[in-house]
Amino acid sequence: MTSSAAPDPAALSPRLPSPVQELADDRFARRGLRLLLKRDDLIHPELIGNKWRKLAPNLRAAAGRTIITFGGAYSNHLRATAAAGRLLGLRTVGVVRGEELADRPLNPSLARCAADGMRLHFVDRSTYRSKTDPRTLAGILRAAGAEDAYVVPEGGSNTEAVRGCQALGEELRGHADVVALACGTGGTLAGLAAGLAPGQRALGIPVLRGGFLTTDVQALQERAFGARRGTWSLDDRFHFGGYARTGPELDAFAEDFEQRHGIPVERLYVAKALYGLVALADEGAFPHGTTVAAVVTGRPFP
Ligand SMILES: Cc1ncc(COP(=O)(O)O)c(C=O)c1O
Repeated sequence: MTSSAAPDPAALSPRLPSPVQELADDRFARRGLRLLLKRDDLIHPELIGNKWRKLAPNLRAAAGRTIITFGGAYSNHLRATAAAGRLLGLRTVGVVRGEELADRPLNPSLARCAADGMRLHFVDRSTYRSKTDPRTLAGILRAAGAEDAYVVPEGGSNTEAVRGCQALGEELRGHADVVALACGTGGTLAGLAAGLAPGQRALGIPVLRGGFLTTDVQALQERAFGARRGTWSLDDRFHFGGYARTGPELDAFAEDFEQRHGIPVERLYVAKALYGLVALADEGAFPHGTTVAAVVTGRPFP
């Protein structure tokens, strides 16, 4: 069912501000550091973490129109968009990278999207790569029968999303000196950094390899706020080879973190941010007395 009135995501009762939780962790305590977790994974059972922060303003802006967005075969963003569509009565279309997937049984992530009512439209990798080119995009919308749809980019990081993530920074004012988080497109970092108070800084841990993110985050901030905002930097050493790459060391780290603290650790993003933070604490990167916060931007699936 598609409603003509703009749906209000606030009707889904998000838990905002999300909880801030202090952890006792000797790897930080022995350096004189406090460790906090910003539990954005608890905002909503289905619109989890930064997905809520990015999607909520877009759901409002879509004003009842079909939402079309983009992702890979295991995209957290596609699943969250599909869930939002079901919960708010909005039509959703997911453009999925890899036309070969169209002929195979859906993996659990895409099956979840389909069960939530998302119409899946598979495109070849080269078309997918050029999806921000206006002519290619127009062709995709036409082929998907979604020419009037509201377009949300891959990862959900547009201007609305970046402004939505500003609230994450504002909620952390007065809590921490340094706020660390994992970055994909950089939209969450761009908004978070803009919302922090002077004297606080944000530290992004890219999960993709390539070193392109400083330019991207700066561009996202310029589009959303007119200029670079807040104090932020990136540490490119913890991507473990790139998106969705892990390894025994990262897996062991994540399992150990889960056992120490009883918190499920999402492996593609959150594990890399936590690993980076522990490594930085160990290197003595933070002065004695610093409070560091890690944003729990997601939850493992399934
Ligand atoms: C769990 C999780 N954490 C962090 C990110 C990175 O967010 P961004 O693309 O805004 O950098 C994503 C991707 O959207 C994600 O799914």
